[in-house]
Amino acid sequence: MTVVTADSETIQLASERLRAGQLVAFPTETVYGLGADATNPHAVAQIFAAKNRPQFNPLIIHVPDLASALQHGEFNDDARRLAEQFWPGALTLVVPLMPQSDIADLVTSGLDSIAIRVPDHSLARSLLRSTGRPLAAPSANRSGTVSPTLAEHVAQDLADAAPLILDGGATRLGIESTIIGTLKGRTSILRPGAIPRQDLESALGRQITAFTSGSDRPSSPGQMQSHYAPNAALRLHARETQLGEALLAFGPSPPAHDGPVINLSQSGDLVEAAANLFSALRQLDTTNCTAIAVMPIPSSGLGEAINDRLRRAAAPRRWAPF
Ligand code: TXA
Ligand code: MG
Repeated sequence: MTVVTADSETIQLASERLRAGQLVAFPTETVYGLGADATNPHAVAQIFAAKNRPQFNPLIIHVPDLASALQHGEFNDDARRLAEQFWPGALTLVVPLMPQSDIADLVTSGLDSIAIRVPDHSLARSLLRSTGRPLAAPSANRSGTVSPTLAEHVAQDLADAAPLILDGGATRLGIESTIIGTLKGRTSILRPGAIPRQDLESALGRQITAFTSGSDRPSSPGQMQSHYAPNAALRLHARETQLGEALLAFGPSPPAHDGPVINLSQSGDLVEAAANLFSALRQLDTTNCTAIAVMPIPSSGLGEAINDRLRRAAAPRRWAPF
């Protein structure tokens, strides 16, 4: 395991490794990603192995700009408008795959669509520029666990895979990108995330429906029920705590509590809460608590994504297939 502070020399080294088919973990503005050259099937296969991820779960590619994205995906009016307004940024667009794209099939799991994002993080952008390849990068955690917002989280989770880890400190937003699909003439939210629904709706001038699942094969497996799960059980909408529990608080007046407490945001700021969420879950998970009691969190703005992750973290576990 090598965690290195990112400077121009280590970015150079990281690019060489990526071009040689090795994995490099790097920070983005949302969470740390585990990157591989998206055009190299062997490199991409290593991501699945390192994450212990089911192979039918497709990956997001990261590119430096919209022009590069247009080489891989077909952008309709909605996709183009959203890309122009929110890229670089925490928005992933799932668009039809261009037949002439050189992205490895394993990235899309053989689907005829592709998830693309232009990250807004100077280190990620330098890495993309100096590598000169699109990078497939899921969150750099073992499949089904909480996404990493610090280089240390990546080192803990992926110790066996031993990728080079570029350390860029704590990620600014702390929650994954919002995923919007523009497929078959329908624009829908596949995963709530760091860009609130309202911002996307005002860019398009209309409401965006949530994707409703129903088919056997999830079109965005981030929609799986149990996902983003810490080891401890979560008890949601808690207004007081029970003996032995840890408390994940929100706002200025948490209930009195004897055990471990982390407040996501004392001032009740949802942006601050999103940034602290995964790291707080990881910390409380180390306290030997019987469960993590989570105070109610409003569902406006980033609250939609926060509550989505909390619901999944609280859902009954299905470890086996992951
Ligand atoms: O903020 C983020 O999005 C982070 C950083 C590293 O960029 N990445 C991330 O990747 O969260 P990951 O792999 O953990 O989640 C990607 C989600 C998965 O739920 C996957 O199923 C979905 O994107 N996805 C990828 N390709 C898709 C496609 N063609 N159709 C539908 N969903 C897709
Ligand atoms: Mg993930």
